[in-house]
Amino acid sequence: MDIKLLSGALGAEISGIDLKDSSKENYERINNLLLEHKVIFFRNQDISHEEQIALAQNWGPLENHAYVKGLDKHPEIVRIVKTKEEKNQWGENWHTDVSYNVKPTKAVILKSIKIPPVGGDTCFSNMELAWETLDESIKEKIKDKKAIHSSLGAEFFIDNYKGMTGHEKRNYDEYSNEHPIVRTHPETEKKILYVNWTYTKQIIGLKKKESDEILKKIFEHQARLDLTCRFNWTENAVAIWDNRSVLHYAIADFYPGRGLGYERIMDRIAIEGDQPH
Ligand SMILES: [Fe+2]
Repeated sequence: MDIKLLSGALGAEISGIDLKDSSKENYERINNLLLEHKVIFFRNQDISHEEQIALAQNWGPLENHAYVKGLDKHPEIVRIVKTKEEKNQWGENWHTDVSYNVKPTKAVILKSIKIPPVGGDTCFSNMELAWETLDESIKEKIKDKKAIHSSLGAEFFIDNYKGMTGHEKRNYDEYSNEHPIVRTHPETEKKILYVNWTYTKQIIGLKKKESDEILKKIFEHQARLDLTCRFNWTENAVAIWDNRSVLHYAIADFYPGRGLGYERIMDRIAIEGDQPH
């Protein structure tokens, strides 16, 4: 096995592990790498839908997305499609997946199917480091507080991402829940800064203006490049991230002559998480 670190903050590209091997030993090796590096990448892994599902099930029950429809034959796989003409791409700002749910996703396994010749990298940011390096005066103000996370739901989603399908109208409601701003990782017991630009709307117990000012500073801090790594996709690559301890950002840099005019297709499986505490 070979481990190539992607940055000083987080992320590692692993070679010498076969993701088709869904044995307990292989899972434990992969999960240890995941807990250590927070996001891990594997190239040239031509795994089938069934093999991707079997791999994911090692972490626990799979999650159906709140408002995005899965594949007909494999509803637990959401196909993320950016059409040729589209500049938008799902996931194109800093977020953790479904943080507006009571129990947000534990981990995600994303496999690339079709990749444009340029553009569409994914960035990740280490929220354990973000907590450690956060300004002490901000830490003091937020350490015991909760924040509201909410999503605009399927209506916004369907309007923006033409190549994808949402669930039916009954799920179009706004999703909203509160979580501690600093959560404890259930496996490593490390503190994690658990807010994000896309879904976190307000700190509970503070006036809107003060909450907005603090959140703005935190979001800027979370985007500091020295907390991040960046992955350049190739076809049949697999990323596994710990959705509890990282933010991610799918870069939609599809400009005329530079990535526009190409499809980008990914298959995503999510594993159910716990309620943050
Ligand atoms: Fe995402």
